[in-house]
Amino acid sequence: MLQKLFSYFLPVNIYKKNSSISKTLEVTWNNGQLVLDSQNTNYSYGSLQRILRKGLKYIGFERIQKFDSVLVLGVAAGSVIKTLVEDVKYSGKITGVEIDEQVINIAKEYFKLDAIPQLELVIDDAFEFVLKTKQTYDLIIIDIFQDTMMPNFLFEDFFINRVNNILNVNGFILFNTMVITQAQEERNAAYKTKFGGNYSLRMYPKVETHNELFTIKKLA
Ligand SMILES: C[S@@+](CC[C@H](N)C(=O)[O-])C[C@H]1O[C@@H](n2cnc3c(N)ncnc32)[C@H](O)[C@@H]1O
Repeated sequence: MLQKLFSYFLPVNIYKKNSSISKTLEVTWNNGQLVLDSQNTNYSYGSLQRILRKGLKYIGFERIQKFDSVLVLGVAAGSVIKTLVEDVKYSGKITGVEIDEQVINIAKEYFKLDAIPQLELVIDDAFEFVLKTKQTYDLIIIDIFQDTMMPNFLFEDFFINRVNNILNVNGFILFNTMVITQAQEERNAAYKTKFGGNYSLRMYPKVETHNELFTIKKLA
């Protein structure tokens, strides 16, 4: 409690571990809120939660409430899952895929991720998971970072086509990206061109300094 109060003046770090995927994983009280950070960026809660909440708002909370199945690729401490359950009031099934078991252990210990009854957690590479899954989904949230780096597969046709195949008609993809360099700007511009007439794509630039969000609807 004291740590939480003190964090309104200065961040208070309560856990830190090296990670092969994220360089470091840090749990910190920041302005009275517990956040998960990698070495160079915020992973869960904090600004990341605000960014994805805006994305869900663009899609529409009422629309999401009617969905049956949501897939979250990149779980970390699960702040978007918390937003879905507590703010959106979504009560359907959520499947969360996370590559790093250490992250899930932190999510359970510090962020009570296992208190969400409709959540099924899968420890796997998101790329492998979308290849294997036999399920389809109404909303697919793609939020995959290795510290500040986004793996290339996210922008390649093979992964894009596979995600499109497991998305239900009238369903949405919410894709969070980071754009700092010119090359990343060009990468995102190229991404936009990969969806044909069966999809309605919207891009939301500068959602929070460096983040650019895409919402992509699969049309009937
Ligand atoms: C920004 S965090 C996700 C935040 C989360 N969506 C939330 O709402 O709190 C990015 C996560 O992607 C995970 N990740 C990185 N590469 C991955 C991959 N290939 N497959 C699945 N997860 C991956 C990282 O371990 C990290 O936990």
